[in-house]
Formats: sequence, C-alpha cells, structure tokens
Amino acid sequence: MKHITPLIVAAALIAGFIAAPAAANPARDAIVAGFKAEAQAADSGFAGFSADRGRAIFENPHTGGEPEIPSCTTCHGKTPFGSGETRTGKKIDPMAVSKNPERYTDPEKVAKWFRRNCNTVLGRECTPQEKGDYLTFMMSQ
Ligand code: HEC
Repeated sequence: MKHITPLIVAAALIAGFIAAPAAANPARDAIVAGFKAEAQAADSGFAGFSADRGRAIFENPHTGGEPEIPSCTTCHGKTPFGSGETRTGKKIDPMAVSKNPERYTDPEKVAKWFRRNCNTVLGRECTPQEKGDYLTFMMSQ
C-alpha cells in the first residue's frame, strides 16, 4: 500500500493542474491576491482561504442584517450554478465561475457588491478573509 499514496497525490495534483486553466483569470487572481494581502495584514496567523468556509458564507443564514434577507442565497439562488433573482424580480446570472467565467474579474464591481450585499445580509462589511473564502469557494464551483 505504501507506494499507492504518492500515486494518488500525484494524480490529484495533475488533475488540479489540468482543471485550473479553465477558471484561471489574471484579473480575478489579482483580486484574490489583494484580499490575501489584506487578510495577512489584519491577522498574522492567517492560514489561507477556505472554500468550505466560503460555502458556509454563501449558504448559511446570518443574523445582523435585514431579517427578511438572511442569506446570500436569498437573492443568488440555492446553488452557485443556478440563476437568482433580486427583490424586484430581476434575474441574476449564476455565481459559480465555471458557469459564468466573467464573474469576479472587475475589482470595482466586486468591491461594490461585497459592500452592499454583506451589509444587507450581515449588517456589516465582510472581512478580507470572508471575501477571499467566498471567492475561493466560487472559483471551485
Ligand atoms: C438583495 C439581493 C442580494 C443578496 C442578498 C446578495 N446579493 Fe450578491 N449581488 C446581487 C446583485 C443584484 C448583484 C449584481 C448583479 C450581478 O452581478 O449579476 C450581486 C453581485 C454580487 C457580487 C459581484 C459579482 C461579480 O461578478 O463581480 C458578489 C461578489 C456578491 N454579489 C456576493 C454576495 C455575497 C457574499 C452575498 C451574501 C453575503 C450576496 N452577494 C448576497 C444581489 C444580492
């Protein structure tokens, strides 16, 4: 069995390299790198972004914001792959990068909507860590 583990690791790495270019985008990578620098500056113990935590930010109900809008999914739909709807019924395209490669490539758009939506749902701005976690999750979807 000893020799099998490295093979699995190698296969996973190769799969990762093959899968990566589909979602890779220099503008998006720069946005994530910016949040990483901010997160490191805010917390010397910063240990990287987590897609699992990002999923929780997206899916979980939160308190502190507008009670009738407890979750990102309230507008963006239950999964990152489907369309959402604004409160006025306007369609929102999917948030997953695999479904919508234009997502998270304009730093001003990303900043504007994080500010607005985090305030609506959480009643505060999201931290750089939360923003990076969210983006890491959406880039894995
Ligand atoms: C009240 C409705 C609503 C809620 C709730 C909401 N969003 Fe959004 N969000 C929008 C709309 C509308 C847009 C802009 C339209 C678009 O990008 O398709 C948007 C865009 C975004 C963008 C920019 C996407 C891009 O392509 O750059 C991010 C990031 C985002 N939302 C994150 C979140 C997060 C994180 C939450 C939960 C904390 C959340 N949103 C909750 C309505 C909402």
